[in-house]
Amino acid sequence: MAYDPIPLLDLKAQYRSIQDEIEPLMCEVAQSQWFIGGPHLEAFENAAADYCGASHAVGCASGSDALLLSLMAFGVGPGDEVICPSYTFFATAGSIARLGARPVWVDIDPVTYNCTGQAVSDAAATCTSLKAIMPVHLYGQAVDMCNMLTAAKEAGVPLIEDAAQAIGSRDACGKPTGSRGDVGCFSFFPSKNLGGFGDGGMITTNNATLAAQLKRLRNHGMEPKYYHQEVGMNSRLDAMQAAVLNAKLPHLDSWAVGRSQNADDYDRMFHAAGGGDTRSSLNDVTLPILTPARPASPSKHVFNQYVIRVPAAIRDDLRTHLNEKKIGHDVYYPVPLHAQECFKSLPVVSLPNTDQAAAESIAIPIYTELTAEQRARVAETIIEFVRTHVPVGA
Ligand SMILES: Cc1ncc(COP(=O)(O)O)c(C=O)c1O
Repeated sequence: MAYDPIPLLDLKAQYRSIQDEIEPLMCEVAQSQWFIGGPHLEAFENAAADYCGASHAVGCASGSDALLLSLMAFGVGPGDEVICPSYTFFATAGSIARLGARPVWVDIDPVTYNCTGQAVSDAAATCTSLKAIMPVHLYGQAVDMCNMLTAAKEAGVPLIEDAAQAIGSRDACGKPTGSRGDVGCFSFFPSKNLGGFGDGGMITTNNATLAAQLKRLRNHGMEPKYYHQEVGMNSRLDAMQAAVLNAKLPHLDSWAVGRSQNADDYDRMFHAAGGGDTRSSLNDVTLPILTPARPASPSKHVFNQYVIRVPAAIRDDLRTHLNEKKIGHDVYYPVPLHAQECFKSLPVVSLPNTDQAAAESIAIPIYTELTAEQRARVAETIIEFVRTHVPVGA
């Protein structure tokens, strides 16, 4: 039987719904020939700061640069330590290592996939040159910021939120991601909930002095023109990206509602088949599939990814099966950062929750435009496979 492919993400479906808004803006930027800085950037930075509940937003060239610029602003350099999770995209720790500093790994909480304030405090107690902490709001779910802020305060170091995957999410106090740390770092990579037409990033902060420094750092540390107080880099958000992002921003909340409703539907189907959520263990449910446990209101998950867990013994066979059925999926992340070749020289640490999540997790399509029929096909395909391949002893 021939199957229509269901991609992990269908950007064209979103584009069709906003094409009429976006294309005139792109023409306008082309006709203005004002590509760097200018009114679109300013309008986007103001709107994005407002959306994120922060006083300032500084556009830059990528989420990776947002992290790098933030670390530079806090003076992180050779020999310094920065606490971050190992279960995240490479850029989190890559930005630390690029400045000659050392990532200090913390394990994740298996229920949320995020690191906790307690784990960060425990790691901070082992550090001798701690310079910052950098938790990650993974998959679109906010870190428990109250405890994280306490951990940062006790350690006496800045809190850099890696919010690359989580624009629009809210923490347990209902506060937007990127509004409470010293800085919040966002990515506008096309697959993010607010995706540009190329690379882009942003830093939010409530500190005017820091915002001014970040604006200098993204422009070679230059102010005024051709005078350099410090060494920065070329990392600007161009006008075309700013115009596109500004047009997409008002849609972001309704897109997140669509993702959340898709998640509800998946939860319902997996639970009806005997699965549970990440508050359970795979051994404790009738069918070994765990959906992401939902944070209680006013917390808000924006589902940049919908990640389920299945027994490690069948995860990769399930991937092969989904490929055969033309169902998009991916694993975020199959090799945690502490196990990466380039970080082998760092102290060996035990991160059991991270290792287990890397072996069991699999992300499935969650984008807003996914139809009920597509969701049912994804869930039924997975349920059927897991039912017939449950490993002995599970
Ligand atoms: C958690 C996390 N941090 C940082 C980044 C880097 O963002 P960018 O790809 O825009 O450089 C990403 C992007 O995937 C990410 O997921």
